[in-house]
Amino acid sequence: MYTGEKVRLRAYKREDITLAQQYLNDAETKKFLMPGIPYLITLEEENKWFESISSFKDTYNFAVETLEESKYIGGCGVNNLDWKNSVATVGIFIGDKEYWGKGYGTDAMNILVKFIFEQMNINKIKLFVYSFNERAVKSYEKCGFKREGVLRQEIFRDGKYNDEYVMGILKDEYFQQNCK
Ligand SMILES: CC(C)(COP(=O)(O)OP(=O)(O)OC[C@H]1O[C@@H](n2cnc3c(N)ncnc32)[C@H](O)[C@@H]1OP(=O)(O)O)[C@@H](O)C(=O)NCCC(=O)NCCS
Repeated sequence: MYTGEKVRLRAYKREDITLAQQYLNDAETKKFLMPGIPYLITLEEENKWFESISSFKDTYNFAVETLEESKYIGGCGVNNLDWKNSVATVGIFIGDKEYWGKGYGTDAMNILVKFIFEQMNINKIKLFVYSFNERAVKSYEKCGFKREGVLRQEIFRDGKYNDEYVMGILKDEYFQQNCK
């Protein structure tokens, strides 16, 4: 369990899955996640994902839980690991919209970044974010990520093509920023 100022990252539990399915099926949340067609996820699919995560090698998924109420509000983790080049690709979602814009996601990402650099000995963390997701871009900048590139017209959403940004943070930058 890894604790920040507002949330802790913990292992997923089976009882999170119903809520996870509800969170991920919310249209507004879905808009910011997954490049595919924003179709609905079934409880069965979500359960299959839960069954798979414990045995998956090189993916590290955390449930995000509030410190004050121990409420499961979303998830984050390492989606891909390139050990040869020492790059981890991460993702995050806060599914309970009550907690958007209040620093809970930023806190969770800070904990994840700390975990990766201080426990996994990785040189670089990167992520992808849609250009229209201004809150996420700002949140990642607050965590020390820099915009590294633009994938032009990468994502078709709501009737038009949108850019996608690649953002990254290096281990040296993280430690220079004061060992969070
Ligand atoms: C993206 C996400 C992780 C950000 O976490 P968060 O805790 O909500 O972010 P914060 O509260 O720290 O807000 C980040 C910044 O965005 C600003 N912001 C908040 N709402 C905003 C909005 N609707 N539009 C633009 N900026 C906004 C905040 O003011 C804050 O900047 P500040 O601290 O300088 O004031 C979280 O909102 C989330 O999971 N959203 C839904 C799913 C998603 O977008 N996942 C990311 C996919 S790449």
